[in-house]
Amino acid sequence: MDTTLPAELFGNGVIAAPMAGGPSSPELAAAVGRAGGLGFLAGGLKAPEALEAELATLDGASVDRSVGLRPFGVNLFVPNTDDIDRNAVLAYRDRLQPEASSVGAAVPEPRWADDDAFPAKLDLLLTRPPAVVSFTFGTPRWDTVAALRRAGSFVIQTVTGAEEATVAAALGVDALVVQHPDAGGHSAAFLGLPAFAGTLPQLVDAVRGVVDLPLIAAGGIGSPDDAAAARAAGAAAVQVGTAFLRTPEAGTNPVHRAALASPDFTRTAQTRAFSGRWARGLENGFMRRLADAPAGYPVIHHLTAPLRAASVRAGSPDRTSLWAGTAWGAAREEPAADVVGRFAG
Ligand SMILES: Cc1cc2nc3c(=O)[nH]c(=O)nc-3n(C[C@H](O)[C@H](O)[C@H](O)COP(=O)(O)O)c2cc1C
Repeated sequence: MDTTLPAELFGNGVIAAPMAGGPSSPELAAAVGRAGGLGFLAGGLKAPEALEAELATLDGASVDRSVGLRPFGVNLFVPNTDDIDRNAVLAYRDRLQPEASSVGAAVPEPRWADDDAFPAKLDLLLTRPPAVVSFTFGTPRWDTVAALRRAGSFVIQTVTGAEEATVAAALGVDALVVQHPDAGGHSAAFLGLPAFAGTLPQLVDAVRGVVDLPLIAAGGIGSPDDAAAARAAGAAAVQVGTAFLRTPEAGTNPVHRAALASPDFTRTAQTRAFSGRWARGLENGFMRRLADAPAGYPVIHHLTAPLRAASVRAGSPDRTSLWAGTAWGAAREEPAADVVGRFAG
């Protein structure tokens, strides 16, 4: 099996990670493509209409046509099928009340269903296939993978270890994103196994030992040396998220941007407090106060949405998610093209 990636899609081997919640704007995807990398749109938890509008933007409706023609990827969250402990979530909801009222927000009623727009978003991608489709949080059905490939998309599954890689390879995907626990944002883990304990190159090596697919290394890449080490371990490309968060093209909110540049934040940590699913971000007061939050994605994501939004409106970083990987110090205010150039193979 060929473990390289098609250069006409992946360019210089730098992928701007899909980043839901705002950062992955069409402008960022276009700028990354223009600089020779692969940009992504983030379809997770987005209404199908909103995703369609972003696709139209990249197709050239409101950006330069030559830019719109660059390949790009679209990422989707696969809905959760795990059982949720409703009593634990309801008890957590009570603990969120004072947090919400302190920023003038309310905690909504729980929404127990996961993203019921997932089938509509898949249909959209099948009718206007992007160059690349990637999945995280779970695996799609094998016939979904086959349909997307027939439609012309290159299909990627994100995994966090060798066991998940074996499961994903059996679905017939074209490549894997191998995500290390140093990554900013949510962990892609879907088998509930302990997080990988070694370095990113060691993780790439471990996955390379069990599957014969092109691998894309992600998580904590902050320097050209980090990228080179991942490539030396066998990665065909690198996927970088946090390093793009302060670029002018990204849709990162101002509170998140300021926190990434602020000396007030000294470490990242993993938390379930915002969404009910483990994710890494700059450690703030909310994460410390609710360090023992239960599992419950995406119910908890919806419960905290109004208080997170109110925190951003108030200009406070204390009650909003500040997703960032361990290499957040490498996130600078600079054009996306410079970030692509730094990590190019
Ligand atoms: C703000 C933010 C949002 C993210 N959203 C997504 C997402 O929607 N889908 C996804 O597959 N990964 C998401 N991730 C994880 C990235 O795909 C990638 O694994 C991670 O950014 C790599 O680590 P780094 O941030 O240290 O470069 C997100 C990461 C960040 C920082």
